[in-house]
Amino acid sequence: MGLQILGTGRAVPSRCVTNDDLAKTVDTSDEWIATRTGIRQRYFCAEGETVAALSAEAARLALARAGLSAADVGLCVAATFTADHATPSLACEAHALLGLPESAPAFDVNAACTGFLTALETARCFLAASHLASPVALVIGAEAVSRVLDFADRSTCVLFGDGAGAAVVRLSDAHPYACRLGARGDVKLLHAGGAGSGDRFLHMDGREVFRFATDIIPRTIHAVLGDAGLSLDDVDLVVCHQANGRIIDHVVKKLGVPAGKFYKNMQRYANTSAASIPLALDELFETGTLRPGMRVVCVGFGAGLTWGGALVTI
Ligand code: ACO
Repeated sequence: MGLQILGTGRAVPSRCVTNDDLAKTVDTSDEWIATRTGIRQRYFCAEGETVAALSAEAARLALARAGLSAADVGLCVAATFTADHATPSLACEAHALLGLPESAPAFDVNAACTGFLTALETARCFLAASHLASPVALVIGAEAVSRVLDFADRSTCVLFGDGAGAAVVRLSDAHPYACRLGARGDVKLLHAGGAGSGDRFLHMDGREVFRFATDIIPRTIHAVLGDAGLSLDDVDLVVCHQANGRIIDHVVKKLGVPAGKFYKNMQRYANTSAASIPLALDELFETGTLRPGMRVVCVGFGAGLTWGGALVTI
C-alpha cells in the first residue's frame, strides 16, 4: 500500500542569522561558509521560541493545506533530537498545542537527520497495521539545533539552523511508495548532548561525515529505486537532507545526473536535521514544483549513523 501526502507546512524561528552576522562572533566568513557548504543564512530560536510551537505552526499549515482539522488526525509522530523536554515527547507537546484527539497516539523518533523519513515510515506502518481512530497521520520533523551548538567550534557551528516541517499523510493505492532505512552504530563521528555525554554540544568529524554521506546517498537511492523497479530517469526530483551543497554536488557527479534533479535550499536554512526534508517538500509544494503523478526520492543521513530513502508519489 502506498502513501499520499495530503498537505505540508513549515515554520522557522523569528531570528535570521546570515553568515556575516555569524562572523561578528565566530572566526569565520561568508566566503568560507558559502564556498564550503552553499549556506548563506539560517534561523535560530530566540529566547522563548520553542520547538513545540514551531512544530504546531508547521502542522497547522499542513492540516489547512490538506483541508483537514486537528480532529481528523489519527496519529502524530515527531522526529527530533532537540526537543524542548526529554519527556514528554515533542509529539505530545504538539498534540496539546494542536488539540489533537485523545484517540491519536503521539510519540517521537530520534534518527537525527534521517528522522523525518523514519517517522514517515513509522507512520505508514502504523496506518497499515494499527487500529487508529482516523486513517490520517501527522508527521513532524523539527529541531532547535542552535541549542546544542558550540560556538567555539567554528567548523561545526556554522552548518546548522532551526526549523520545523510537517506532512499530513494517509495510505493510498494510487500513490506508490518504497522505503529503505539503515543504521550503523558509530557515536564518535557525530553526537550531541544527553544526560550521560558530559556536555550538551554537537560534535562532528566533518570530513568523515562527508565521506559517509557521499557514499551512502547514491547507494540508498539505488536501493529504493531497485525495490520500486525504477531508475533515476523515472524520477522527477531528488530531495536530499540539506546538510551541505558540496555533498549534493559530489553525489550528482557520482550518479551522472543533471544537477537540477537535486533540490537545494540549504542556502536559506542551513542544516535543520530532521526538519530539512519536510521544509524542502513544503517549499516545492508551495512553488507548484511538485505536481500530481511526480515521483520524488527523499534521502536522509546523519548521526547514528543512520540513513534512509523514500520514493514518494505526489
Ligand atoms: N570558517 C573559516 N575557517 C574554517 C571554518 C570556518 N567556519 N571551519 C574550519 N575552518 C578552517 C579550518 O580550521 C582549517 O584551517 P587550517 O587548514 O588552517 O587548519 C580549514 O578551514 C579547513 O578545515 P577542514 O575541516 O579541513 O575543512 P573542509 O574543507 O573539510 O570543510 C566541512 C569542513 C564544511 C565541515 C566539511 O568537512 C563538510 O562539509 N563535512 C560534512 C559535514 C556535514 O555536512 N555534516 C552534517 C551531515 S549529518 C547531519 O546532518 C547531522
